[in-house]
Amino acid sequence: MLAIIGGSGLTQLSCLEISHRQIIRTPYGEPSGPLTFGKLRNEDIVFLARHGHGHTIPPHAINYRANLWALHSLKPCHVIAVASVGGIHADLAPGQLVVPHQIVDYTYGRHFTFFDSTEHRVTHIDFTLPYCQQTRSLLLRAAQKANETIRDGGVYAATQGPRLETAAEIDRLERDGADMVGMTGMPETALARELGLNYATLAVVANHAAGRGANVNGIPLKEISAVLEQAMVKVRNILEQVVSCHGD
Ligand code: HPA
Repeated sequence: MLAIIGGSGLTQLSCLEISHRQIIRTPYGEPSGPLTFGKLRNEDIVFLARHGHGHTIPPHAINYRANLWALHSLKPCHVIAVASVGGIHADLAPGQLVVPHQIVDYTYGRHFTFFDSTEHRVTHIDFTLPYCQQTRSLLLRAAQKANETIRDGGVYAATQGPRLETAAEIDRLERDGADMVGMTGMPETALARELGLNYATLAVVANHAAGRGANVNGIPLKEISAVLEQAMVKVRNILEQVVSCHGD
């Protein structure tokens, strides 16, 4: 089964034929909402809205551990995390899709590990390549099949939010090597690795980051939902192809 985590702009998957919803309790509490089970192009899918069904949970308050634990309990073959980002690199204009290959964590105060008990041996994970290469290739192949332009690779900077960044903060992230900025990539990506999930992100550029493009004096927040709505059509096309490619 394929698992999809939907972010801003993708709180439901309209192309999914829903069979049922299930509330899963975990040792870490409740996920952002019930898991939605169904079929996409005749393949079993489980979908979870990261910010909750009504988009009410801000990035710093998401129970990432419960979300990942719940999905892991279903033993998914891949986890595709759809996430909106601000574009820092000049190529990353609103509406562009990217499959990041690296991530830098600027978040704080979140539950960022499953390995925080003092009762077990200290556990470290290798995180050199934070995303699953097979899942990344699957996304790239699916985009090609769907005839959608997508950028292969980029560094995702995970910020705390919920406020957007200052222009100086974006300059700093760029000096650090970041191409895009979002608020939910961490600890989600690290927790997925701790559980051994085949996890990759499909990032959707919602806006030029602060101070970039035409956003020298501010980010036009009202334009973001229209950009996301259009881009989600492309995302859905790609997800339909992911389903048909993943047995290849
Ligand atoms: N910054 C942080 N997170 C985001 C942005 C941004 O500009 N756009 C969408 N998510």
